[in-house]
Amino acid sequence: MQKLSKRETWGSKIGVIMAVAGSAVGLGNFLRFPVQAASNGGGAFMIPYFISLFLLGIPLMWIEWTLGRYGGGFEHGTAPGIFHTLWQKNRFIKYFGVIGIFGPLVIFIYYTYIESWTLAYSFFSLIGKYKNITEQSQMQAFLRGFQGLERNQYFASLFPAYVFFLITFILNIGVVYFGVRRGIERLAKWGMPILLVCAIILLIRVFTLGAPDMNRPSWNINNGLGFLWNPDFSKLRDARVWLAAAGQIFFTLSVGIGVILTYASYLSYGDDVVLSGLSAVSTNEFAEVILGGSIIIPAAFAFFGPDRIRNIATSGAFNLGFVTMPLVLQKIPLSTIFGFLWFFLLFLAGITSSVSLAQPAIAFLEDEFDIERKKAVSIFGILTFILCQPAIFLLGKGVVDELDFWGGTFSLVLFGTIETILFVWVFGMERAWEEIHRGAQLPIPRFYKFIIKYITPLFLFFILGFWFIQQGLPVIILKNVSLDIRPYIMVTRISLIVLFLVLAILVKIAWRKKRFVEERLR
Ligand code: ALA
Repeated sequence: MQKLSKRETWGSKIGVIMAVAGSAVGLGNFLRFPVQAASNGGGAFMIPYFISLFLLGIPLMWIEWTLGRYGGGFEHGTAPGIFHTLWQKNRFIKYFGVIGIFGPLVIFIYYTYIESWTLAYSFFSLIGKYKNITEQSQMQAFLRGFQGLERNQYFASLFPAYVFFLITFILNIGVVYFGVRRGIERLAKWGMPILLVCAIILLIRVFTLGAPDMNRPSWNINNGLGFLWNPDFSKLRDARVWLAAAGQIFFTLSVGIGVILTYASYLSYGDDVVLSGLSAVSTNEFAEVILGGSIIIPAAFAFFGPDRIRNIATSGAFNLGFVTMPLVLQKIPLSTIFGFLWFFLLFLAGITSSVSLAQPAIAFLEDEFDIERKKAVSIFGILTFILCQPAIFLLGKGVVDELDFWGGTFSLVLFGTIETILFVWVFGMERAWEEIHRGAQLPIPRFYKFIIKYITPLFLFFILGFWFIQQGLPVIILKNVSLDIRPYIMVTRISLIVLFLVLAILVKIAWRKKRFVEERLR
């Protein structure tokens, strides 16, 4: 029997949709997506991408919204409690739920730091700090100097980066300190429209660039769009392209992380999850495919031409965002404003995502240990502040990549698979279907019942297996990792295992405490 909750709830329907969309729309939409599309077959990439969206992304979105709302009714906002409620007879299932706190916590550690670069670059754009840089190699040096990877004429130390990290970190903690309704929801309600307006202004600017170099008329936006979207169907024979598409869907929608469970746990009993989930997905896809897919690559093509674009497009998300894009924006009138718009857009996309990454750990302390919100946020703040330091100071030693692998890739696919099996096969498809539809204004087409029951889990197993063999195993056995950074990777890995164990022990303590209280009340 569900009891009346003393937990917070969202202030409005639009607020929660904005918050979930805010969690989904992030750096992944504007930086990761164009790189993935350009390196995996262009327009052809959209075939596995949309298949993954319909067979994985949307079902997982509905599953997580439903599981979260269900768990919230039992005063559980994170996976250990939610999994336990779904399968009460199993004593171990709550420990699988630890992945849903561990994943977002680990992503938060490096994501906030990268987000702080976007804030710093917004400021640098306004003051014209990189204004005279016109060469790729110099812009690269500017970025490396800022990241503390080298000392050069642009930056003598990591100090500026650290200051911006501190500001970003405090802003994040400030938002969650105010709580779900007054902090996260308010940020999303302001941040998301501003973000979309910034992106649309940039899109219009890019589309009206035409052919900026009169001597090279073929270097134009149309051909830039063609470079990104003309399909290369031969790529579809490569399993890696399918894995990349599925991985992008997970990352961009923020499914499999654990954050949507927590957000949805603040819904009320009869709130619609079908339409709200779909609205969040649609907003994210608009921001990703239409906006993310039309800004950076076509603009870079128009300025750097067909020969250089291939290297640029596959040089990684950071290069594209922090090296290529500032160079492109330098070349257009009002570059200060457009540079600012670009980085501020990334900052808003980042912060609305990072606060969602913070919330599961905070909700865990609140729900399972009855710790009051402000105290829970303080504990979270101190802990993550310490954990962020290696990501900042050891960026060049592969620490961020290691954190991204375990928190941002491995955990996602594994967690997505576990929650789906649990919901569909243990909780039971009939109950699951009924639960999804509680309060729904529109029914989901019936064929989705078949998809959610059979196709999504099979697809997930397939992805998990393939991914593990092809990409997971080489990372785990440290293949391709140079000897000089191995010790850093190993220490990071051991620290992550310790973090996971500490979370598992906390789950054990929380449950023991609860049992003790229940026994005394009897
Ligand atoms: N979904 C978030 C992003 O795309 C994490 O960056």
